[in-house]
Amino acid sequence: RIYEATASAPVNIAVIKYWGKRSEALMLPTNSSLSLTLDQDQLQSKTTVRVVVDADGKENDAALWLNGNREKLSGRVTALLARMRALRVTKEAKDASIPRLASKPLLIASVNNFPTAAGLASSASGLACLAFAVNAALQLELPPADISALARLGSGSACRSLFGGFVAWDMGSKPDGSDSVARQVASETHWPNMCALILVASATQKEMPSTAGMQTTVETSPLLQHRIQAVVPDRMAAIEKAIAARDFDSFAEITMRDSNQFHAVCLDTFPPIFYLNHVSHRVISLITMYNQVKSKSNGRKYTVAYTFDAGPNAVLYLLKEDVAEVLRLVNSYFPNGVDAASSSAVDEYYGLS
Ligand code: DP6
Repeated sequence: RIYEATASAPVNIAVIKYWGKRSEALMLPTNSSLSLTLDQDQLQSKTTVRVVVDADGKENDAALWLNGNREKLSGRVTALLARMRALRVTKEAKDASIPRLASKPLLIASVNNFPTAAGLASSASGLACLAFAVNAALQLELPPADISALARLGSGSACRSLFGGFVAWDMGSKPDGSDSVARQVASETHWPNMCALILVASATQKEMPSTAGMQTTVETSPLLQHRIQAVVPDRMAAIEKAIAARDFDSFAEITMRDSNQFHAVCLDTFPPIFYLNHVSHRVISLITMYNQVKSKSNGRKYTVAYTFDAGPNAVLYLLKEDVAEVLRLVNSYFPNGVDAASSSAVDEYYGLS
């Protein structure tokens, strides 16, 4: 018999950003966050886990292939696998009739259907489906909330990818982290015309990894302390309200303000961290002007919201009916790709100048 499972998990893009840990060991955040889980068919990670039951060599071993390349297991993935194996040990101790899988080697193969180098949050989807596939391969039968808490040990934002739609990660207050969990705020059918557009400003650039970046921020940024105490709690409440009411204007303003503050916190880090580049800045200006112009005709304060993670690529949130025009706008603003903006014709057309 083969003990093997394959799982896939989608990418999530936060509108209230997670940045900072209060415990590295337990992977507990300094503030709550909220994200939208994107459609699985567009951007996803897929992972197969096989338990080598007849192995007689080194036990407790694991081998990992990422997009076809053999990779070393990170300390965090090793810790995650150890936790999940320990759960299997407990199960086997209780029931002598189930197969002994806990200490068998694991073969893990993971692929993304999008370029990892594009700087899109591949760790969230990757770790979410790893935890899900190991749960199935080791027959742990854990509920989604428990798998989410395990995925968090691999990468904080991964805990949100276990759920669809709009997902909050409540920071919690207990020292053991048991109340630091992801929770679905609204399902994927709640706001059916909500769309995301991803503008890849750079598919190659290597930035400061999130883990190291947020460590330095926690150590050095006074603005982060202000953000986590005085800003995020109100924003979490306000954006949940906006989502419940499908209030795009409020949703968009909070999203853009939170992205801006996250990048301000990066600049306040010492030495500073720069994730946005000149293309990102152009996208922000373009969306700001477009929102102003559109407002005159559609009466809405915002038509598009931008948000940026730990890299220069923009994610735009907008309603389905506006996608075609915004795509045209972006394509005509960046006719030769995002590095070569040619704005004058577009400015005239959209009245942006
Ligand atoms: C900017 O989850 O990648 O995307 O927990 O150290 O693995 P680790 O960090 P990670 O950080 C994500 C940061 C972010 C914001 C967000 O997704 O909330």
